[in-house]
Amino acid sequence: MTGLFITFEGGDGSGKTTQAELLSQWLVHAGHTVVRSREPGGTELGLELREIVLHRRGHIAPRAEALIYAADRAHNIATKVRPAVERGDIVIQDRYLDSSVAYQGAGRVLDPIEVRDISLWAAEGFMPDLTILLDLDESIGRERLDEARSKYDRLEAEESEFHSRVRGAFLRLADEDPQRFLVLPATDSIERIAEAIRSRVGSLLD
Ligand code: TYD
Repeated sequence: MTGLFITFEGGDGSGKTTQAELLSQWLVHAGHTVVRSREPGGTELGLELREIVLHRRGHIAPRAEALIYAADRAHNIATKVRPAVERGDIVIQDRYLDSSVAYQGAGRVLDPIEVRDISLWAAEGFMPDLTILLDLDESIGRERLDEARSKYDRLEAEESEFHSRVRGAFLRLADEDPQRFLVLPATDSIERIAEAIRSRVGSLLD
């Protein structure tokens, strides 16, 4: 018996964790064994790498950053995700290699295809059965900022452009692989999104 590997992707604050939790509860209730994971930081080693890549002060060279995410991924897949799926469990994970392609590729320094290939090498080609993309217009976050602060801020404008490139990259990835992706508008109600996810996951379990 083999299990399932389901990943959640989307911009920061798109509601991934809430939906991952709801799906997990629904599956446990139906009698499945669910393993939760996230990247970066799904394992003990991963938590140390997460601290470095997200919270360490000072510059990290883009290739070094991409390799830290890949190292976290390699360890998470080899020691946690793949063994669980092989046991027949359902792994639900916040973020995976699509995040690397979208974020590390969006800075315009690294080639998205090279970033993807490094991740594939790290994970020995292990791919999700389903990836749920919670698509969020970055200008919604932007509008909230504008309400709080009326002055134009160059850094914020750059950030907004970066997030718009991240969003575009996620949508392109979904377009290229419609079999694997379920794209849902993150602005829908929590219950509506959860229902759409349950319906798709249910069809994988039949
Ligand atoms: P996460 O913990 O999911 O935070 P959030 O709740 O804000 O989405 O992700 C942390 C950050 O890590 C997020 O800004 C995206 C980034 N990230 C990458 O840049 N590359 C990657 O490969 C992964 C997995 C995450």
